[in-house]
Amino acid sequence: MNTHLLIDTANKLVADDKGLLAMDESNPTCNKRFAKLGIPQTEEARRAYRELIITTPRLSDSISGVILYDETIRQQKKNGTPFLKVLADVGIIPGIKVDTGAKDMAGHAGEKITEGLDGLRDRLKEYFQMGARFAKWREVITIGDEIPSRSGLEANAHSLARYAALCQEVGLVPVVEPEVLMGGDHTLEQCLLVTQEALRNIFIQLNCQRVMLEGVILKPNMVLPGLDCPQQASVDKVADATVNCLLRTVPAAVPGIAFLSGGQSAELASARLNAMNVRWKAQLPWALAFSFARAIQQPALEIWRGDETNVSAAQKALLHRARCNKAARRGEYTNAKETT
Ligand code: 13P
Repeated sequence: MNTHLLIDTANKLVADDKGLLAMDESNPTCNKRFAKLGIPQTEEARRAYRELIITTPRLSDSISGVILYDETIRQQKKNGTPFLKVLADVGIIPGIKVDTGAKDMAGHAGEKITEGLDGLRDRLKEYFQMGARFAKWREVITIGDEIPSRSGLEANAHSLARYAALCQEVGLVPVVEPEVLMGGDHTLEQCLLVTQEALRNIFIQLNCQRVMLEGVILKPNMVLPGLDCPQQASVDKVADATVNCLLRTVPAAVPGIAFLSGGQSAELASARLNAMNVRWKAQLPWALAFSFARAIQQPALEIWRGDETNVSAAQKALLHRARCNKAARRGEYTNAKETT
């Protein structure tokens, strides 16, 4: 294991108050988002959209790494320049989503198990040779009647840990992503308990599989009440519940925690990350960063709508969100930033 490279990459991903931009939507997910806005669901439209993202001027001031998808990592700009070269030229570290999706778990109604371990070693080697330096695997957890089950959490944690060990073997930093979904009417307290239990299982399994925690980035959900919960929570309450959950479960050896946005509005995701850093940063052993997809991309996608004449305005919106989230890491994000 190249310990030095792994630690160096993990630290770079959360250095200088930057964060990750997740642009690794699978083709079906990307197409779904395009369909809602009347954008053609073609390989060329997906390519053009990703070209828009990675060629955004000054993106690397706020973004340390981008998470790509198998189709995207092999694509080029319209002029033939490989996306990987565009990223290398501006110093953005390329990462790659390597799970093959969450499927219904046998014997566990309502629960999912993430697939993708078969043949993973060879796929990881290829991605590393192409230039990727980190990878991502997402576990999906639904809160519902009697779920998640203990066996569901254990099986998913075991897969995440096996993925993480394989990543480190080839020199890729594993981004370990357990996502407790926002859908449902559960309370903030229920989300806290489930997220805690998921993280406990994950760190037990990471240790069992001999994963070096100094070379891991954790990508969890924030602790939130379900979308249909009548009792929504203030920004500060979410910040405190989330950080308390992490303090109880995440070892200090982990260099960084980069949140997913999970369907929160872009502004709320920034405000909640900001509150965590304002209220807790000085006492925390790890960096609190971001690895948002929708909370960075959505405003830009809505402006672009597949029209080349909108590229520059969309890039401005993308850069704005990236900068807001960098400010949130510093505890300097305010509502006023949205209008300046
Ligand atoms: P969202 O920020 O849109 O939740 O996406 C993050 C991600 O990478 C999901 O796997």
